Amino acid sequence: MQRDIQKLKAYFADAPADISLDDVDLERIPSHVSLIMDGTGRWAQARGLDRSRGHVAGVDSLREAVTTSVRLGIDVLSAYAFSTENWKRPQREVNLLMHLFATTLVKELPLFHQENVRLRFLGDLDALPKETRDVFQRGLDETAGYDGMTFALAVNYGSRAEIARAARLIAADVASGALAPEDVDVDAISGRLYTAGLPDPDLLIRTSGELRLSNYLLWQLAYTEMYVTDTLWPDFDRWEYLRGVRAFQGRGRRYGGVVSS
Ligand code: FPP
Repeated sequence: MQRDIQKLKAYFADAPADISLDDVDLERIPSHVSLIMDGTGRWAQARGLDRSRGHVAGVDSLREAVTTSVRLGIDVLSAYAFSTENWKRPQREVNLLMHLFATTLVKELPLFHQENVRLRFLGDLDALPKETRDVFQRGLDETAGYDGMTFALAVNYGSRAEIARAARLIAADVASGALAPEDVDVDAISGRLYTAGLPDPDLLIRTSGELRLSNYLLWQLAYTEMYVTDTLWPDFDRWEYLRGVRAFQGRGRRYGGVVSS
């Protein structure tokens, strides 16, 4: 965890009435925060705009969420950008999202450089258009040496497919003799997920009020605290993020035991 207190205080100046930096304990900031960015289509439709305008507006919220995470000293920020089920959307919307991922990543690379953010992707990238894949690879290459926050973007991600993939990898290792059946344990599975090496999320924030996991990180969210806000993703800002952290800190985490931390 790295945090610049001066920058942090300046970033959270001009607080609204109900929440300020003083409301959170900087000693108990979650290590991994994960985002289900929902409601971008509804945000646009409520304004009489094309759904795509909501996705474009959502990029600004995601940029702010990255900066907020860095300022707070979060170790890992992950975000669900495109699911394995999202291919069912109209082709035009899918194309726009793929193009948006590529153009946004190029545009935001300076932020990653400036803030020492290492990029990572969760999901099967092979199915993405070449333009998007190439830009993602460039992002991975350019940020590989950074040791500040990790930003993990889930694209063409589905949790069941991820777990099935881990099972295939394990089966292959067992078949080749590299892994004994009795050594197939929780760590063996965790180590073969797209999130291998990352801590499980401490806090999951879902926008737009839906009480669903939507095939997102089903394995990794086993003990994650959830914060669901009615705010639509394009309206999600640093203060809503802080409300989520405050809610997280108000929970007693027991991991199935009885001692609350
Ligand atoms: C879910 O809202 C949102 C998406 C499928 C797209 C999320 C993508 C962004 C916010 C842009 C991120 C950009 C980059 C570069 C990662 P929805 O479309 O399901 O909205 P609805 O529930 O209101 O229909």
